[in-house]
Amino acid sequence: MHDEIKEVLISEEALQEKIKDLGKQLSEDYQDRFPLVVGVLKGALPFMADLIKRMDIHLEIDLMAVSSYGASTVSSGEVKIIKDLDTSLEGRDVIIVEDIIDSGLTLSYLVQLFKHRNANSVKIVTLLDKPTGRKVDIKPDLTGFIVPDAFVVGYGLDYIERYRNLPYIGVLKPEVYEK
Ligand code: PRP
Ligand code: MN
Ligand code: MG
Repeated sequence: MHDEIKEVLISEEALQEKIKDLGKQLSEDYQDRFPLVVGVLKGALPFMADLIKRMDIHLEIDLMAVSSYGASTVSSGEVKIIKDLDTSLEGRDVIIVEDIIDSGLTLSYLVQLFKHRNANSVKIVTLLDKPTGRKVDIKPDLTGFIVPDAFVVGYGLDYIERYRNLPYIGVLKPEVYEK
């Protein structure tokens, strides 16, 4: 598996170091507020698991799964709910956890939806941000790393469902997705 990776973009150590900082920041920001931390499946799973362990406050977790309609690479902008939350958002302080923001379509849909469900506040924490991919104007409140316009996989990010289990973020060799 690892020989299909061209380069390691963000090492396991760098990821964990950054997640520690993000957890500390969130713990300060949400002290005594009992936030609802919402992970966006599947990509956010490893990041969310590590992040909540670095948050030293009371919090609640929930999970949501969404997918874009239409062809796999080019998003149509419509988002379909595969698995919805179990928790009411009425008056809650929501922290959405994502692995990456690319076009921004997934998150802009979720932010709108959560506000419509009367959340008190909605903030976004993303491990990676790829600003070059943006199609809608949306900015995360907390970002781990800015990434270049490359095919990044690992630590939740997949290529046809593979590589999510890498402990680091890597760039895929072109021959892997060109064949
Ligand atoms: C990926 C990624 C984000 C989203 C970002 O999820 O995990 O959720 O795309 O792209 P966007 O900013 O262009 O909307 P994907 O839909 O591939 O599902 P997955 O998390 O199950 O891989
Ligand atoms: Mn995702
Ligand atoms: Mg994916």
